[in-house]
Amino acid sequence: MNILLICGSPRKQGNTAQILRQLSIALEGETVTMVSLAELHLNGCLGCSVCQSDLEKPGCVQQDDITALLQQVMEADAVVYGTPLYGHSYSGQLKLFMDRHVALFKFVDGGDKAVEEMEILSFIRNKPVALVVSCQGPEEHNTELVAMQFEKFCESSLACNLGTYVFPWCDPNVKGSNYSQDTLQRLAAWVRSARA
Ligand SMILES: Cc1cc2nc3c(=O)[nH]c(=O)nc-3n(C[C@H](O)[C@H](O)[C@H](O)COP(=O)(O)O)c2cc1C
Repeated sequence: MNILLICGSPRKQGNTAQILRQLSIALEGETVTMVSLAELHLNGCLGCSVCQSDLEKPGCVQQDDITALLQQVMEADAVVYGTPLYGHSYSGQLKLFMDRHVALFKFVDGGDKAVEEMEILSFIRNKPVALVVSCQGPEEHNTELVAMQFEKFCESSLACNLGTYVFPWCDPNVKGSNYSQDTLQRLAAWVRSARA
């Protein structure tokens, strides 16, 4: 199984990266690739909608590192996105990347309708995806917005949502962090069970 882990933290040795590293160990036996957005050159979506004009193939007019990364997303059997919680939401880096996924799904009809009424053609239809969130505070009354954001992303992209996995009470200095092994094992089991 080919599993892609994408770290959306600007801190390469931060909590989010450590959690994804521990997840890759929990996924021993699978082919795991970890990518850090902090090491890539990525631009925000231009909102030009050129990607929506060709229904036959994915595509974006911008030629930055996202092009290759979106290809990796399409080829992976499962994708885990990781983010530190910033203002109850994704990091800026991950939000930018999530927006660029629009090149992978096409709003064929009903751009003026609610998502559930639209006709959508997606290159990541049924792709198993999960979100990992590290935060300094608690899960409750703190992470609801980011979980909802991810749920909405899955509705639009037709990806298969394996859930949002929160790692609360992280130490900003990392050293004092104690990541729930139970949550890591639960996530690893879900990812493995998503095998096509
Ligand atoms: C700009 C900013 C906003 C943050 N907002 C929140 C927040 O809303 N809730 C929370 O619990 N922690 C918040 N934090 C703390 C981080 O989510 C937490 O330290 C996280 O584990 C950092 O991940 P990293 O080590 O991968 O960078 C914030 C940190 C920063 C820098």
